[in-house]
Amino acid sequence: MTNQQNSEKKFSPRVLSGVQPSGELHLGNYFGAIKQHIELQHEYPGEAFYFIANFHALTSINDREVLRKQTHDVALTYLTLGLDPEKSVFYRQSDVPQVCEIMWILSCVTGKGLLERAHSYKDKMEKGLRATMGLFTYPVLMAADILAVRATMVPVGADQEQHLEMTRDMASSFNAIFNTDLLPLPDTRLNADAVVPGVDGQKMSKSYNNTVPIFTESDELKKTVMSIKTTSIPLGDPLDPDNDTIFALYKLVSTPEDTENMRQRYLAGDVGYGHAKKELITAITKYFEAFYERRRELQSNPGMIEDILQAGARRATQEIEFTLEVMREVVGLITSNSR
Ligand code: ADP
Ligand code: TRP
Repeated sequence: MTNQQNSEKKFSPRVLSGVQPSGELHLGNYFGAIKQHIELQHEYPGEAFYFIANFHALTSINDREVLRKQTHDVALTYLTLGLDPEKSVFYRQSDVPQVCEIMWILSCVTGKGLLERAHSYKDKMEKGLRATMGLFTYPVLMAADILAVRATMVPVGADQEQHLEMTRDMASSFNAIFNTDLLPLPDTRLNADAVVPGVDGQKMSKSYNNTVPIFTESDELKKTVMSIKTTSIPLGDPLDPDNDTIFALYKLVSTPEDTENMRQRYLAGDVGYGHAKKELITAITKYFEAFYERRRELQSNPGMIEDILQAGARRATQEIEFTLEVMREVVGLITSNSR
């Protein structure tokens, strides 16, 4: 249905994704999402929209300093790792508050039952988040983010797939009720499917306290990598590279040759966990070293980050205002701007 509807109207391809500033970004975020976001900007120059979802983060953060700092850190991290403001539109969600008006309009075509079926609401309550209206209506805001710029493709992790289904549902309800073809039904594009393990071997996640941050002081990196859980296997015995957190992380940050070499040493019992961890520290440092200079440049110039976000917000506002104007028109809202 999605492709058929989209091709009838011929929406031009546009990518959008949002990242919550809910904690320090880690290797799981980089290899699972950020890297693909950055690659997509080259495939869709001028048509890749990325934003920092600080309205969404209010569902879990109630400390203004923490929210400000983490919002800034997401911007710094994306720009450091290669987000190019000439190719992507990069903005802070709260700089385009029109998205909240779009959210309201969508709320009025969204069945309450749809939201009651959301897994993420239940999962987040189980993790101890308060059952606020913000948390409950979170998927409508997410749909508004996407539909506001009329995105056709949304790169996200598998955990967000249900939100995309809901977005398509809301878009088709809106189009059907108001007899319009304004809104595309966006496709989900799954981020890298490999799950990056954390230091305890579970999925790396802020909520499990098991992350290796992307940018961290070298002593801190050493401590974190050294804390990776291993089993006690006598030195000289073979190790299994396919069931091993150190190897899984090493593979991500090393060349295919170095990875193959390490695999052979694992299988031959030529390397112990202590050594493998040291080599992993070196490999992580080497991988991200290329970004250090850009990071320092951005850190010493916070005005530059702000300028980029403001320019992104201006560009996003143009697109979002266009959608909103048509929406107001088709639903019959009259504003002082209406002609
Ligand atoms: P966290 O679990 O740390 O809260 P998020 O849910 O904010 O991370 O993740 C943002 C995106 O980063 C996810 O949608 C997913 O694509 C990616 N991601 C996060 N953790 C991992 C991981 N361990 N392995 C692969 N991808 C991940
Ligand atoms: N809910 C997403 C997450 O937690 C973040 C997000 C908010 C988003 N709005 C979005 C992602 C719009 C894609 C599109 O990861």
